[in-house]
Amino acid sequence: MNIVVIGAGRGLGAVLVQELRKRGHTVEAGYHRLPETADNSLSEYLMDVMDEKSLIDAADAIRQSAGKVDAVVDVAGILLDSDRTCTLMDEPEEDLMRQLDVNAIGIVRAFRAFYPVLSGGGRFLAVTSEGGSFSLAGSLFPGYSVSKTAANKYVQVLRETIRKEDVDIFAIHPGRMNTGMGRTTAQIEPEEAAAGISDILEGKIPVDTDRHWFIDYLGRPMPL
Ligand SMILES: NC(=O)c1ccc[n+]([C@@H]2O[C@H](COP(=O)([O-])OP(=O)(O)OC[C@H]3O[C@@H](n4cnc5c(N)ncnc54)[C@H](OP(=O)(O)O)[C@@H]3O)[C@@H](O)[C@H]2O)c1
Repeated sequence: MNIVVIGAGRGLGAVLVQELRKRGHTVEAGYHRLPETADNSLSEYLMDVMDEKSLIDAADAIRQSAGKVDAVVDVAGILLDSDRTCTLMDEPEEDLMRQLDVNAIGIVRAFRAFYPVLSGGGRFLAVTSEGGSFSLAGSLFPGYSVSKTAANKYVQVLRETIRKEDVDIFAIHPGRMNTGMGRTTAQIEPEEAAAGISDILEGKIPVDTDRHWFIDYLGRPMPL
């Protein structure tokens, strides 16, 4: 398969690129900050989910070199330090906005940019979070959690906007991973999440997105 991973710099994104390439897939890696040695011919692109132009330019370059892609996985996400220490009463408004921008609207930007190369049977996997579920009440990571709720809702609305046969879009909770972001709550290594997401992409874990469009990295339905 030809797969685009957005947010490939570190954490789950970096591990997922490695895992998919190990399994023989062609992977186009999208970086928030392009490594100095980056080279489009090596399938490395600038993809900043806050910058629509970077996404459209990357999608155009990929269309020219590879034609259609089978799947896009948007892993990009942020959890700001203020969100770990503040409550909704005192977290700076700009930090609330930035998390919404990257974690929620970033998904819409990425989907719009890559729609032309996915249209006609592709899949778009938005990595969101259990933190976005209404059923998980709590005040931990307030701005991040709300941004992930918005992300899930954007996925739902996109599913009602675009026919599933054209592009099947769904949301994935990757587990509580031992990464820069998840270090305080980790239960699994990112390699485990990357293996599960790869199995989902390969169809080894069957997913019925008509019934469940928010699942975890093992394909289990997640509560909304
Ligand atoms: N870790 C967990 O326990 C956990 C749990 C539930 C959900 N998630 C979700 O899983 C995804 C991956 O998390 P992680 O733990 O691997 O986090 P991470 O280690 O902090 O990595 C996040 C990645 O997103 C990239 N990124 C940030 N802003 C971006 C932007 N504007 N455009 C493009 N890429 C951007 C980062 O690039 P730079 O480093 O260059 O900024 C980095 O490569 C995130 O969406 C996160 O919310 C994680």
